[in-house]
This record gives sequence, structure tokens and C-alpha cells, in this order.
Amino acid sequence: MASSSPAMLLLTLSILFVASVIIAVDAFSISSYHAVRNQWRQRCCAATATTSCSSSRRSTVEGPPLSTKPDYSSIHGPLGQIVDNILMSAFRTKLSERLDRSDNIIRIKDSSLATHDFAGIIELTTTMNSQYTNRTQIQEMSRDVLVSLFPPFILDRYPSWFAKPFPEFSAKMCAWATVVGGTWLMGECTVNDIPEIVDDNGGGGGGGDGKSQGVLVKRCRFLEESQCASICVNSCKIPTQNFFRHNMGLALTMTPDYETGECQFAFGKLPTEEEERLAKDTPCLMRCPSGGSMRSWHSNDRVSDENGTGSLQWLDDLRELERLIANKKEAKVQSACLLMED
Ligand SMILES: *[C@@H]1O[C@H](CO)[C@@H](O)[C@H](O)[C@H]1NC(C)=O
Ligand SMILES: *[C@@H]1O[C@H](CO)[C@@H](O)[C@H](O)[C@H]1NC(C)=O
Repeated sequence: MASSSPAMLLLTLSILFVASVIIAVDAFSISSYHAVRNQWRQRCCAATATTSCSSSRRSTVEGPPLSTKPDYSSIHGPLGQIVDNILMSAFRTKLSERLDRSDNIIRIKDSSLATHDFAGIIELTTTMNSQYTNRTQIQEMSRDVLVSLFPPFILDRYPSWFAKPFPEFSAKMCAWATVVGGTWLMGECTVNDIPEIVDDNGGGGGGGDGKSQGVLVKRCRFLEESQCASICVNSCKIPTQNFFRHNMGLALTMTPDYETGECQFAFGKLPTEEEERLAKDTPCLMRCPSGGSMRSWHSNDRVSDENGTGSLQWLDDLRELERLIANKKEAKVQSACLLMED
């Protein structure tokens, strides 16, 4: 009994940290989005946007109606507004530190907005996504922010002490911690069951009985505020999954639904290659500030003209997209912001 208490305490702490990291990552993605937005708009106009937009219109997702957009600022996690503000400020601080590091190719200055202002996180995330053309770097920086939110003694021990010996318990704890620590970032969310995980024991994710191993985000604040599926994938989904897998030793699959703004977390489930390919093959949101025309820009590392004069890379991307769409007529989510193969 006595020996299990410190372990429980450590686990609880870890979970809280994980949750705040998740939240931070989400916030990170959203904030990058707005800054990027203006640049995208400019690039969009400069590049041959019309062709790109109209050709891939069927790949555009409308997203949930603005009229039903929740007042996110009034939605708080179980620990209340004060704790949420502390988590948001911590996230923002770590995010701005990471973006302004002296060894960065591009240094991004902190926002002038208050640290507990959600728009500040969106601003930074959007700026990051607009200034960095290499998605791998965006994913790595976002994951660094998550890592920096957790004390090293937790990250050093969590995989071997908890995630490996108790994968199912770890999955349930992380789901709970995600809700506790992530509501400020994602809006309303609840722990739910992932019945299909039971069949996934061969998937290498640790499995479990699926009960309380999921988190259902009703309408993700970070996605909604950033209005960009690419930011969602590169600044939130991929870095968060990688963080849990490589730093916490826990499999996680995040499945965003761009039509509704929902996002389903499944702890203990490794994404299949097909799922990851589809995820990277993101659609553009109808309200995307660039009208979706920036998809070739923000989905392709090779396009990096600082002056926004555009390049013909988008044309190649479009052809590749059409090829992809033709190849998977049945796919539910038709992709527009394609080719995020790294
Ligand atoms: C993108 O960044 C990653 C990691 O820094 C690097 O390995 C890769 O070569 C870069 N890709 C391009 C196209 O520059
Ligand atoms: C961008 O503009 C600067 C100055 O206006 C110029 O020196 C540079 O060559 C341009 N870069 C590209 C890729 O066109």
C-alpha cells in the first residue's frame, strides 16, 4: 500500500502534465494559424489561387457553422478557470521560448497579447506555420513544446515505470488527464470508450479493454480558431501522437473530423499507416483564410519563396492530388492539402 502511493502520485502528476501538454500543443497549432493566415492570403492572391481553389473545391470541407460556435472563453476544465489560465500561460511561455530560440533558422518573437489570451497562442502558431515551410520542423518544434512542459524526471521514468508495465491503466489515466489539462485548449471534451481497441492488441498500441481510453473533443477550439486542417495535423495531431509514443511510451491515435470540429483521441491505439496517410492528406476548410489555395504552399516543403510570388509547385501538387483522389474514390475525406509525406 505504502509503496503504491508515490507511484500513484507520480502517475497523477504525469497525467496532469500530459494533459497540459496536449492542450498546449493544440493551442500552439491554433495560434500559429492566424499569423500564417495573412501571409497565406497574400501568397494565395499572388499565386494562381483561382485554379487551385476551383479545381479542388470538392476537397474542401465546410466545417461546423459559425452560428453554432461556442463561447470558448466560458468553457473551463474540471479544475476551473484559474488553473486553465495557468496552463495556458505555461504553454504560451514554452511556445514562445521554443519559437525564439537562438539556433532557429527563423526566430519568432513572442506576441504582445497577454499570456492568458488564447489569441496569443493562435498568433504564434499561425506565424510558425506561415514562416516555416518544412512541416517536419513544425512537427518537431510543436513536440518540443510539449516535452518542455513536463519535468524530465517524469518523461525519463514514465515509459518504463507506467506505460510499459501498465499500458491499459496509463491509457485511461492519460485520457483523464487530457480532459483535465486540455479543456482550455480544445473546448468541451469528455472521456469515452474505444470499443474497437479490444481487437487492436495486435496493432502494437498496447490495446486494453477500450473503456475510458478515449477523449472526445466536441468542437476543437484550436482547430476552430486556427481554421486550418494543416495546422491541426502538423502542430497538434502528429506532434501530440509522437510525444505520447516516443516520450511517454504510449500509443495514441487522434482522429479529427473537419466537418464537425470533433476530434477523437484513442489512447492505446497506434495509427495505421493508411490512417496516417489519410490524415496527412488533409482537406481545406471552407473558411480557410486563403480559400484553400495555399494548400500547395503549406503542404509542400519545396515551395519556399519568401517573397510570396508563388511557384508552379502547386500545379504539381494539384496533379498529384487528382491522382490521389482518383485512387481512392471511396475515401470519406477527400484531400486537398495533400502530400505531407514527411
Ligand atoms: C525538413 O526538416 C527535417 C528536420 O529538420 C530535415 O531532416 C529535412 O531534410 C527537411 N526537409 C527539407 C525538404 O528541407
Ligand atoms: C525576394 O526579394 C528580395 C528583395 O526584394 C530579392 O533580393 C530576392 O532575390 C527575392 N527572392 C526571391 C526568391 O525572389
